[in-house]
Amino acid sequence: MSVNISSILNDLERLPTHHLFGRVSAVQGLLIEVAGIQNNLSIGDRCNIHSRDGRRVVSEVIGFREGRALVMPFGPLEGIGIGCRAEIAEAIPSIYPDQSWLGRVVNAFGRPVDGAGALGSGPEAYPIKAAPPSAHTRKRVGGKLDLGVRAVNTFTTCCHGQRMGIFAGSGVGKSTILSMMARYTSADVTVVGLVGERGREAREFIEDDLGEEGLRRSVVVVSTSDEPPLMRRQAAYVTMAVAEYFRDQGLNVLCLMDSVTRFAMAQREISLSAGEPPASKGYTPAVFAELPKLLERAGPGPKKKGNITGLFTVLVEGDDHNEPISDAVRGILDGHIVLDRAIAERGRYPALNVLRSISRTMPGCNTDDQNTLIARARKIISTYEDMAELIRLGAYRRGTNAEVDEAMYYYPRIEDFLRQLKSEQTDLETCYRLLAEVLTPPAAPAAGEDAAQRPAVARPVPPRPAPQAIQIKQQPAQTIKPVARPVPQPVR
Ligand SMILES: Nc1ncnc2c1ncn2[C@@H]1O[C@H](COP(=O)(O)OP(=O)(O)OP(=O)(O)O)[C@@H](O)[C@H]1O
Ligand SMILES: [Mg+2]
Repeated sequence: MSVNISSILNDLERLPTHHLFGRVSAVQGLLIEVAGIQNNLSIGDRCNIHSRDGRRVVSEVIGFREGRALVMPFGPLEGIGIGCRAEIAEAIPSIYPDQSWLGRVVNAFGRPVDGAGALGSGPEAYPIKAAPPSAHTRKRVGGKLDLGVRAVNTFTTCCHGQRMGIFAGSGVGKSTILSMMARYTSADVTVVGLVGERGREAREFIEDDLGEEGLRRSVVVVSTSDEPPLMRRQAAYVTMAVAEYFRDQGLNVLCLMDSVTRFAMAQREISLSAGEPPASKGYTPAVFAELPKLLERAGPGPKKKGNITGLFTVLVEGDDHNEPISDAVRGILDGHIVLDRAIAERGRYPALNVLRSISRTMPGCNTDDQNTLIARARKIISTYEDMAELIRLGAYRRGTNAEVDEAMYYYPRIEDFLRQLKSEQTDLETCYRLLAEVLTPPAAPAAGEDAAQRPAVARPVPPRPAPQAIQIKQQPAQTIKPVARPVPQPVR
C-alpha cells in the first residue's frame, strides 16, 4: 500500500495545538447555548459538542446572548443536553480540494458521499467563506462561453467570468436547463452545487443529466432539503471554494448552483433562530448581506488565473419577479435568463422569455452581424407578441401591416429554433448559423405553399429578364374591327 507522506504531513500540520472547552447551558429549538468559552469565540467559529451518545456534533457560532455563545449544529440535536462538553474547533473552516475531486460527489463538508472511496487532499487550504478577489485585481470578462443551449447561446450569450441568474417559478424548467449546460458546456471544469433540492432530484441529476461523461469533468456538492440549514448554506460556500481552487489552477470553471433561493432560505432560518428581526417577506437583513458575498465569488479571476462563470437558479415564489430574493439577486448579477410559465404551458422548452432576458455583456462580445441578427429576431418576437391577441382572435387581417405580416411568418420559425430537447446539443457557431437561416427570406414558394402567407418585406422580387433574353414574338397581323361608338349629338 502506498502512503502519501506529504498528505499525512499536511494533515498533521492541520491538527490544533490546544483544546479549549465549555459546557452546554441551554438548548432551545435549533439553538444551543454554550457557557465558559464565549470570550474565545466569534461569529462563524466552529465548536464541537460531544453528545451523551458519544457523537461529536460540529456546530457554528451564530450569535451571543446574555454572556453566552449561541451555536447551531450541522447535525441532529438528539443526545445533546445541559452539561455536554463544547470544544472550540479549527478557527477558519477550510477544505483542501484537489484534481482528484473531479468526478466526485461531496457534501457540505467536502467529504465524499458517492461511495467511491476516500478523496485526495490538496496542499492548500481553501477557506469555505473566502472573500471575492478585489475589484482592481480582477481581469475583465473574457470571450464567449458555449453552453450548448440555442436560446441561451444566441439571446443571452454568456462570457467567461460572467454571472447570470436563471429566474422561474416552480416546475418551469430551471434544473433541466442547468443540467443541459452542465453536460454541453465548453468550460474546462464544472462545479455543481445542489443546495436544498430534493434528494430524488440530486440522484437523477448526477446519473441521468450529467451522466458518466459529464461527471468526469465535474465536482458535485450536494446538500438536500432535509439537512439542517447550516449544511444547506455551507454547501453553497463549499461549491464556491471548489470552483476557486480550479480557477486558481488557471482553468475556466462553470459554476452552477441550484438554487440560490434555498441558500437564502437557509440563511433566513439561521438568522431568525439567532433572534434577528425579519425585514422583507420574513427574510432578515443578514440574507441580503450574504447574497452579494456569495455571488461575487464567481466572476473573472485575478491575472494569470482562470475564471468562474456562474449560473445561479432563483425560484421565483408565486411567479412574482419582484419578490425580494429575485430583486436582490437580479441587482447583483450580470444578466438574467427568465423562464416563463405561459411558454412552458404551451410546451416550448426551454421556456426562455427572450424579451425579458438579458445578458449585460452580450452586445460587447458579439460581432456587428450577430448583434444585427439578434436585434432583428427580438424585433420580430416583440412585434408578434404585441399583436398576438388580435392574431389569435382573427381580428388582424393579413396585408394590413407589413411588419406584422413579417412577424407572423417568422415567429413560428423562431419558436422552433428556440425549442430544444434535453438530449440535444448545439454549439455556438451552429446556433448563429441556424438563426440566420431561420431569418433568411425564402427563395421561392415551396410546393403547396400559399404565396399570400409570405411576409410582404421578404417576398422575393421576380428576377428581371436580361435585355438580350427578351424575345419579341411576332403577332400575326389582325384586322381591327371598328367599334361602333355613338355619334355625339350637338347640344341644342
Ligand atoms: N428541455 C425540456 N424538454 C422537455 N421538457 C422539459 C424541458 N425542460 C423542462 N421540461 C419539463 O419541465 C418539468 C420541470 O422541469 P424542472 O424540474 O427542471 O423545473 P424546476 O424549475 O427546476 O422545478 P422546481 O422549481 O420544482 O425545482 C420537467 O419534468 C419536464 O417535464
Ligand atoms: Mg429544480
